[in-house]
Amino acid sequence: MTQSKACAVALTISYLLVAASAGNFYSDVDITFGGERAKILSSGQDLSLSLDQYSGSGFQSKHEYLFGRFDMQLRLVPGNSAGTVTTFYLSSQGAGHDEIDFEFLGNSSGNPYTIHTNVYSQGKGNKEQQFHLWFDPTAAFHTYTIVWNSQRIIFLIDNIPVRVFNNHEAAGVPFPKSQPMRVYASLWNADDWATQGGRVKTDWTKAPFTASYRKFNANANRVGPNSKSTSSENENQAWSTQDIDAAGRNRIRWVQNKHMIYNYCKDSKRFPNGLPVECKRSRFL
Ligand SMILES: *[C@@H]1O[C@H](CO)[C@@H](O)[C@H](O)[C@H]1NC(C)=O
Repeated sequence: MTQSKACAVALTISYLLVAASAGNFYSDVDITFGGERAKILSSGQDLSLSLDQYSGSGFQSKHEYLFGRFDMQLRLVPGNSAGTVTTFYLSSQGAGHDEIDFEFLGNSSGNPYTIHTNVYSQGKGNKEQQFHLWFDPTAAFHTYTIVWNSQRIIFLIDNIPVRVFNNHEAAGVPFPKSQPMRVYASLWNADDWATQGGRVKTDWTKAPFTASYRKFNANANRVGPNSKSTSSENENQAWSTQDIDAAGRNRIRWVQNKHMIYNYCKDSKRFPNGLPVECKRSRFL
């Protein structure tokens, strides 16, 4: 076989694997609020959420998971998105819940979105890191990923790690590892705080606001009835031991140097009695 033919075959095979593992919104999620404002389109390949003066909208995964890799492609609300918050997160239910968040805080036209990340363990969060992006998240779809295993949580954007939250249970820091979580997504109004600290309000003359989701993929340990791993053998559950390698370390440093705008681990005013324990132990604050 010529090299180009071999290459074409390899590409075709990898395309099929991706296609086979990519989810379908009809089978994978339930609309949780907003009624007709949430729309599943193109036979389940796409999902759009919208927000107007009366309500936002949202959906959640049908299944619960304990560890996995969760990918979603999103195209955020274009134009004047001030006051809107688009989300993609994992959460358990009930008191003392665990949660792993990606939130996208809109902005007035021409000003950058803020990507807000947080981790809650046993009901306690206060571990925010925020970023600006190196691209326009409204112009095209980009992939946002949460890798959650027993050792760490990794946030990735287009496969570039932007944040790692390591398991520091040995030092007494709670880590989400025993409560199953669902995947959630929503678009809602938060103009009391989201944009420039709440100073910039939602411009309802531009409503409805719409964000689009596609290619939801959970390679994860499903729990509950019919529990099984959704990872195919080919994927070999790489997420379950996923760490940051040397290339990843360079990339996360680049993101943190150039694009991070807030880090709770650097906010000594907020923690007058000393920074949280994990801040002193992690290489990637
Ligand atoms: C909005 O734009 C301002 C000015 O560039 C920036 O400081 C802020 O972080 C942006 N994001 C939000 C959510 O306010």
